Amino acid sequence: VIFSDSNEASIIVAQEIAALIRKKQGAGKNCILGLATGSSPIRVYEELVRMHKEEGLSFNNVVTFNLDEYLPMEKDNRQSYWHFMHEHLFNHIDIPSENIHIPDGTLSNEYVREYCLGYEEAIKKFGGLDFQLLGIGRTGHIGFNEPGSHRNSGTRVITLDHITRVDAAPAFLGIDNVPRKAITMGISTVMNAKRVVLLGWGQNKADIIKKTVEGEISSQVPATYLQGHKNCTFVLDDGAGSEL
Ligand code: GLP
Repeated sequence: VIFSDSNEASIIVAQEIAALIRKKQGAGKNCILGLATGSSPIRVYEELVRMHKEEGLSFNNVVTFNLDEYLPMEKDNRQSYWHFMHEHLFNHIDIPSENIHIPDGTLSNEYVREYCLGYEEAIKKFGGLDFQLLGIGRTGHIGFNEPGSHRNSGTRVITLDHITRVDAAPAFLGIDNVPRKAITMGISTVMNAKRVVLLGWGQNKADIIKKTVEGEISSQVPATYLQGHKNCTFVLDDGAGSEL
């Protein structure tokens, strides 16, 4: 779906998430959300916070699993995804803190593999993701599933692509400060979500959006796996959709 305005598009995505939360509330169930970081979802989170404050939307039945986190990364570091999510969403809503799951970037090598398997298990224990929100990186990554990621991959440690580190460099005040690794949910973790919405804003995403939507499914552009998802929508603005 191509909108002329990313603001309007973000509001519509937030409304879909809010409707799902309310529907689950009505049924006395938890709503399991997979969440993304980056600039793309910021406006969606802003709108959800507004709905909480002005319309009484409650997040007390919401359980969240974030896609990824840098490794190594301290939680209180300004560049951490932990910090991002609290600043843009969690600090402003009534979600119980025990319902929040963000990959732990502080783990040493010997514990991280088991931790990733546990993260995957925890998602399954809650019955899987009802909704997964995504952005897309210039390499075609979703989460931090860089080129080469397997369709069956689960939550794991990944080495970041050079382009990804270049794109992150401004936030870290130089590429040397960008971690070389990350923990990311896998392609299969995302593909198992019941509903997937990918956000793409701006001309600089146009090329990768074209490859993702119109190209052959390939591990070289991991987002192309989404072509095989039964309930996935790309929500784009004019710029990101301009090459389609
Ligand atoms: C990072 C995140 C991705 C995100 C991507 C795009 O690499 N790990 O989940 O989709 O950035 O970020 P932006 O939305 O700022 O373009």
